[in-house]
Amino acid sequence: MNIPHKTWWKESVIYQIYPRSFKDSNGDGVGDLQGIISKLDHLKDLGIDMIWLSPMYDSPNDDNGYDIRDYYSIMKEFGSMDDFDLLLSEMKIRGLRLMLDLVVNHSSDEHQWFQESRKSKDNPYRDFYIWKAPIDGKEPNDWTAFFGGKAWELDPLTNEYYLHLFSKKQPDLNWENQQMRQEVYKMMRFWLDKGVSGFRMDVIPFISKEQDFPGFPEDFNGDIVDAYANGPRLHEFLNEMNREVISQYDVATVGEGVGVYPENVLKYIGRERNELDMVFHFDHMKIDRPDDNFFGIKPWDLTEMKRIFIEWDNVLSSDGWNSIYLGNHDFPRMVSRFGNDSDYHTESAKLLSTLLLTQRGTPYIYQGDEIGMTNTDFKGIKEYRDIQTLNAYDEAINSGKTADEFLSSQKMVSRDHARTPVQWDDSESAGFTTGQPWIRVSQNYKDINIEKQVNDPKSVLSYYKSAIRLRKQHLVLVYGEMEVLDKDNPKVFAYLRVLEEERILVLLNLSSEGSTFELKNIDGLESARLLLSNYENRDKLSSEPDLEPWEARVYKL
Ligand code: GLC
Ligand code: CA
Repeated sequence: MNIPHKTWWKESVIYQIYPRSFKDSNGDGVGDLQGIISKLDHLKDLGIDMIWLSPMYDSPNDDNGYDIRDYYSIMKEFGSMDDFDLLLSEMKIRGLRLMLDLVVNHSSDEHQWFQESRKSKDNPYRDFYIWKAPIDGKEPNDWTAFFGGKAWELDPLTNEYYLHLFSKKQPDLNWENQQMRQEVYKMMRFWLDKGVSGFRMDVIPFISKEQDFPGFPEDFNGDIVDAYANGPRLHEFLNEMNREVISQYDVATVGEGVGVYPENVLKYIGRERNELDMVFHFDHMKIDRPDDNFFGIKPWDLTEMKRIFIEWDNVLSSDGWNSIYLGNHDFPRMVSRFGNDSDYHTESAKLLSTLLLTQRGTPYIYQGDEIGMTNTDFKGIKEYRDIQTLNAYDEAINSGKTADEFLSSQKMVSRDHARTPVQWDDSESAGFTTGQPWIRVSQNYKDINIEKQVNDPKSVLSYYKSAIRLRKQHLVLVYGEMEVLDKDNPKVFAYLRVLEEERILVLLNLSSEGSTFELKNIDGLESARLLLSNYENRDKLSSEPDLEPWEARVYKL
C-alpha cells in the first residue's frame, strides 16, 4: 500500500478568512484585523490549524484587495502593521498558523512600480509590466479580460497598451523580468520572516506569457483560462521561487489551479518537482455551469461529482497531495449549491462537512460554512458589490439581455454570496458591525448565526467540531486510501478509507429523498462502531442501511 509522505500541512485543517466580511471592530462597516483577533477563540474552538487570509495588503479595492498597491503595508481599513503583528502573535499563542494570499500575477495600477512603469518607455520599471505598441492602431491581439472587455488598455502617456487579464486596474506583472521576480521573492521573505507559514497563490498558472502574443488560435473554444494558463516558462519560475524562497522555510503552498487538470497537476505538485505543495483544481466547481457560460447554471449530477473526486484521488495517490474544498470567496455558498438550503438545511450542511473532512487531501473550510451560511436574496443590481457581477451586468445589458435574465443567474452564481458578513448573532447586522455593513447581511441571520449554534450540541457548528476532531483522531482519514462503493449510485456517495489495519466507512446520501444502500462484501459490519452521524440512533449498521434525506454516517469497521 502507498502511504503518502507525512507532513503537518497534510494533517491540517485550513480555514479561509475574507477579511472584509469577517468581523468589524470599529463600526466602519468593514471587517478588519482587530475583528479577526477578537474571534480567534471561535476558530480555536472549531479545531482548525491554519488560517488562509485573503489579501489584507494596501489596496484601492477595485477587486477587494486582489489589486495590491503596496505589498509591504496593511490596508488602512483593515488596520496597521502592528495589528498584523498582534494577529500573528495571538495566533501563535493559540497554536494557529497563518497562510497569506500571494497575488503576483498582477498588481494594482496604483502600485508604485506601475506608476513608474507608465511614465516613459525607458523608465527602469517599464519592463515590470507588459507593454506593447498598437498594431494598425489597435490592440496587439484579441485577448479578453476576466472582468469583461479587452485584456489591453491603451495608456495615453506613452501610447502603448498594457496587458491586464483581470480589470484594467490590475495590470499583469512581467515575469520575464528578473528584477521583478527578485522583488517578489524579497517580499515573500519579508512575510515569511515575520512567521507566516505559507502562501495561497492567486491565479499562479497565468504568470508566464507567450512572448510573441499570438492571440487566440483559430480553433479557440472560448475558454480563456486554457488560453492563458501554463505558459512556456511557468514551471521554471515556480521552481526558481521554490529554490530561492519556499525551500528555505517550513511552509505550505497551494496554487489556485486555473488550467490545472489531472494530466498536468503533477508538474505543479510532484514531490521531486520542487514547485508547489497543493493546488485547488476547478473540476467540481464547473459541474453546475454550462460549458460555454460561466455565469449560467445547470443541474449537477452526483455520479459526475464522484467521478471527479475519484479521478483526482487516483492521480494524487502516490505523488502530490489534494486540497479538498467546496467553496471559497469566488463561489456561491456550498449548502445552497450542493446541499438543500431550505428543507434540509442543517442535515445537508452537516453532510457536506462530512464530505469535506473525510476525503484524502487537506480540507479548506470557508468562513461561515461552519454554521451553514447560505446564498443571499440580493434585491436588484444595487445590492451587489463584486466587480465581476457589476461588469458582467453591463455587458449583458449592452448585448440585449434583460436585467431579470441576468439577475436570475446571479442569484445562483455571484461571488457576493460568499462575501456577505459572517453571521455572529441575531442583533442588527448579525453582530458583524455596529455601523452600516459594506455589503448587505443575508436574510436569515436571525436563524443562522454562531451565537445560536455554539452551545447547541445538535447544531451545524457542533457537528463541524466533531468532524474535525474525528479527522485528528484517525490518521486513516488523512492518509488512508479511498475506495468508492457503488460508483454509479445516483444518490449515495459511499466510500471506505483504509490505512493498514484501520478501516472507516462513510455513507452520504446527497439527495432530498430516502435511499437504501446495499453494502456488499464488506467485512466487519456487525461490529461497526459509529463515529459520527447527522441523524440519531445510528449505532447499528445493517448490510442494507436505509438512509434518510441528506443523511451522513461514519463508522469504524
Ligand atoms: C483569483 C481570486 C479572485 C480574484 C482574481 C484576480 O481568482 O480568487 O478573487 O478576483 O484572482 O486576482
Ligand atoms: Ca472596520
